[in-house]
Amino acid sequence: MRHITVLQNEAVLELALNASSLVVDATLGSGGHSRAILEKLGKTGTYIGMDADQSAIDSAKDWIEKYKAESHLVHANFKNIDAVIKDLNLQCVDAILADLGWRIEQFEDSGKGFSFNSDDPLLMTFGNPADYAFTAGDIVNEWDEQDIANVIYGYGGERFSRRIAKAIVEYRKKQKIETAKELSEIVRNSTPSFYRKGKVNPATKTFQGLRIAVNDELSVLEEFIEKAFEALCPKGRLAIISFHSLEDKIVKECFKSYARDQVGLLVNKKPIIPTEEELRANPRSRSAKLRIIEKL
Ligand SMILES: C[S@@+](CC[C@H](N)C(=O)[O-])C[C@H]1O[C@@H](n2cnc3c(N)ncnc32)[C@H](O)[C@@H]1O
Repeated sequence: MRHITVLQNEAVLELALNASSLVVDATLGSGGHSRAILEKLGKTGTYIGMDADQSAIDSAKDWIEKYKAESHLVHANFKNIDAVIKDLNLQCVDAILADLGWRIEQFEDSGKGFSFNSDDPLLMTFGNPADYAFTAGDIVNEWDEQDIANVIYGYGGERFSRRIAKAIVEYRKKQKIETAKELSEIVRNSTPSFYRKGKVNPATKTFQGLRIAVNDELSVLEEFIEKAFEALCPKGRLAIISFHSLEDKIVKECFKSYARDQVGLLVNKKPIIPTEEELRANPRSRSAKLRIIEKL
């Protein structure tokens, strides 16, 4: 399965670009938004594509050349957007887009334990595991039952978090939890039968909670928003697409605070969501929310 770009036209339209704009796509991914951005830029425009995943940068090298704008591809976490802009000797930028989350390919081919039925080790780090404070394996094998339940409930929204955490702790008394498959079996066996029979894998929320904790995704997002807003030129726009209620809450609160402090203008009062047509073509877009702020 390949990644399908979400809210492509809406997001790029709301960036209010012209041919000379200076734009950062902070989550290049498969380049769906970036291509639409580059279509709008002329020779005097500048494009910067960032991604924490080197493979996104490598594949963009093949198609970026055909566009007229000056382009820079940077392998970096978007929490370091300030350093990326500074290294390019830019004072400020006109537009920044972040399409949060990860591409389906990153889950399927990573070998890091994101797929339920894989024999991959439970890492769940998007970058090099050596650079992370802990892995998903560390959480399930070493953390207290209560802390495990808190991660699964707090970041995954899993209503059976307590019984799942209990089952994890029971299991590890006998043997270490080594693989993604082992963990998804533990979750499956500890949840009620109606939950197991649903369309969605019963381990979905548990895996999501672990992934968010390992990659510290919410703190990274807060740091990114602060630095990205700071990096905008006056009248510059920051657009963020989120897929998770906790992420959207952070975006909403940060943007609201800029509006309250009269340093930013909310471009739309309500988030932009996919049309019926997009939902039909790509059901995975169902939780997407696009919010935009303009710097005053
Ligand atoms: C949903 S995909 C973006 C898809 C892209 N807009 C497209 O149309 O193809 C999100 C991308 O952001 C990257 N990413 C996620 N978190 C990141 C972070 N903190 N810093 C930089 N890149 C990140 C992922 O590696 C992934 O390639």
